[in-house]
Amino acid sequence: MCGIVGYIGENDAKEILLKGLEKLEYRGYDSAGIAVLNEDGVMVFKEKGRIADLREAVDGDVSANLGIGHTRWATHGVPNQENAHPHQSTTKRFTLVHNGVIENYHLLKKAYLADVEMASDTDTEVIVQLIERFSKDGLSTVDALRKTLHLIHGSYAIALIDNEDENTIYVAKNKSPLLVGVGEGFNVVASDAMAMLQVTEQYVELHDQEIVIVRKESVEIQTLDGTKVERAPYKAELDMSDIEKGTYPHYMLKEIDEQPAVLRKIIQAYQNEQGELTIDSAILDALKEADRLYIIAAGTSYHAGLIGKEYFEKIAGIPVEVHISSEFGYNMPLLSKKPLFIFITQSGETADSRQVLVKIKEKGYPTLTVTNVPGSTLSREADHTLLLHAGPEIAVASTKAYVAQVAVLMVTASVFAKSQGKELDFDVVKELGIVANAVQAIVDTKEELEEIAAEYLSTTRNAFFIGRNVDFYVSLEGALKLKEISYIQAEGFAGGELKHGTIALIEDGTPVIALATQKAVSLNVRGNVKEVVARGANPCIIAMEGHEEEGDRFVLPKVHEFLAPLVAVIPLQLISYYAALHRDCDVDKPRNLAKSVTVE
Ligand code: F6R
Repeated sequence: MCGIVGYIGENDAKEILLKGLEKLEYRGYDSAGIAVLNEDGVMVFKEKGRIADLREAVDGDVSANLGIGHTRWATHGVPNQENAHPHQSTTKRFTLVHNGVIENYHLLKKAYLADVEMASDTDTEVIVQLIERFSKDGLSTVDALRKTLHLIHGSYAIALIDNEDENTIYVAKNKSPLLVGVGEGFNVVASDAMAMLQVTEQYVELHDQEIVIVRKESVEIQTLDGTKVERAPYKAELDMSDIEKGTYPHYMLKEIDEQPAVLRKIIQAYQNEQGELTIDSAILDALKEADRLYIIAAGTSYHAGLIGKEYFEKIAGIPVEVHISSEFGYNMPLLSKKPLFIFITQSGETADSRQVLVKIKEKGYPTLTVTNVPGSTLSREADHTLLLHAGPEIAVASTKAYVAQVAVLMVTASVFAKSQGKELDFDVVKELGIVANAVQAIVDTKEELEEIAAEYLSTTRNAFFIGRNVDFYVSLEGALKLKEISYIQAEGFAGGELKHGTIALIEDGTPVIALATQKAVSLNVRGNVKEVVARGANPCIIAMEGHEEEGDRFVLPKVHEFLAPLVAVIPLQLISYYAALHRDCDVDKPRNLAKSVTVE
């Protein structure tokens, strides 16, 4: 959510910044801007809209070896040119980009900047105006920054340049992600290594409440109180080809197609030399110690957590609660005596989940993060990490990470169950292999799903997804996918619950997509379909091979019922994708959204 970049070296800063921002656009795309500094002073370019619009607005003749850039997901102030970053202080001496939210900006404005005429409605501008105020009082730039950071409450990743110093980018971080990339004769700043992989693979992690003085030849990390910190860089394990679209029209389609490979990778990553599934022994010990698991997550990851609960309870016999992270932080249930907290998060950066992690750590409870991003904030801050091995997920709508989350939760639950002496009546490795083939078969029948999307969803204003048991959880995910990328109002429901109110919304032609993968409740779901058909709905039944019936619209290849969510979600992802295309929506960058939601 908001992406920032910075470059200082000998090459064309403008081009490196624009390329970096293109890679970070998934973090927000309401507006974008860059500032570059050369001997003539600072030049700022900013535009409402996408990086492509910014690129057009940037003067091709600008030549500078230092600059900062930003792509915005609006929090304070509408998305327009004035509110786009970079923001400047009144005299234009200081220029700054920021990712995060300054909670006390109103108070600071009143206390220190009552006489300053603000150029934007953002919380960010307060930071840069405060720096100027303190520098006018005689403080050096770094001290003015330090003083400002002591005053502000909230989250920030900041890159700051000073018109009077062509040799430095000042950087600071609290809660929002930020890395410094190091090179020979240049250094860079980025919210995500992906942005600057074009110039370096070496990155230094920053911790909360650190300031970094970045020059061409040096990177100096300090704590807020000025103590120097030494930290070696690490190599970003990312391949440029992982983050390119290649011949695909959209990242989402590429990521849907990658799912069979992701499942195979997970099987491999969690297998020992004997071919048995295994997880880190410390994680196993933490699970054994616990009397109850608390899964904390948001959005799609929450939906994966609901399925994880089924796995842990039914396979491993441990009680599980699943909570939406934004609610849990201030509305904690009564906790068991020995809880283990499991954070499920693709990005490892979601602020709603992180604020829970911080509170849970204060209470001293053990924590495990299940994430796709090694070294991400939630991974670093939890006691343990399980990786998803899905490769970078760039489309805003999560697909392969969801499948990876469900698969890793199954692996974990089964390894834990075995360690407790519980006999599983199926071979997880074999069954996951069958799932990978089934997913491949589905992604190979895209035309059929494109037809379904055209038939049911090209003009409708709403749609319902129903299912029972785990199919209900997959329905929630199907509805989320559809609404976020096609803007069709979609709801996922437990099949039996529709008649308790929502059925009033069924009209002639309302699409109802029903999942029937679970033998025990398949007939009940079909009964629910009859109820809506009697009221005019246009039903689309997606059933598992073995209990399909005539008239079903799509038949899923047979897999173990426990693993059915991994295959049932694939047609829903593809139907959503094609529905969005039919409706001319921006699939990879749906309106109002951002990939990594780093504000609460
Ligand atoms: C939906 C989607 C979001 C995320 C949610 C949590 O397609 O991607 O609902 O699942 O914002 O993000 P992570 O998993 O990064 O914590």
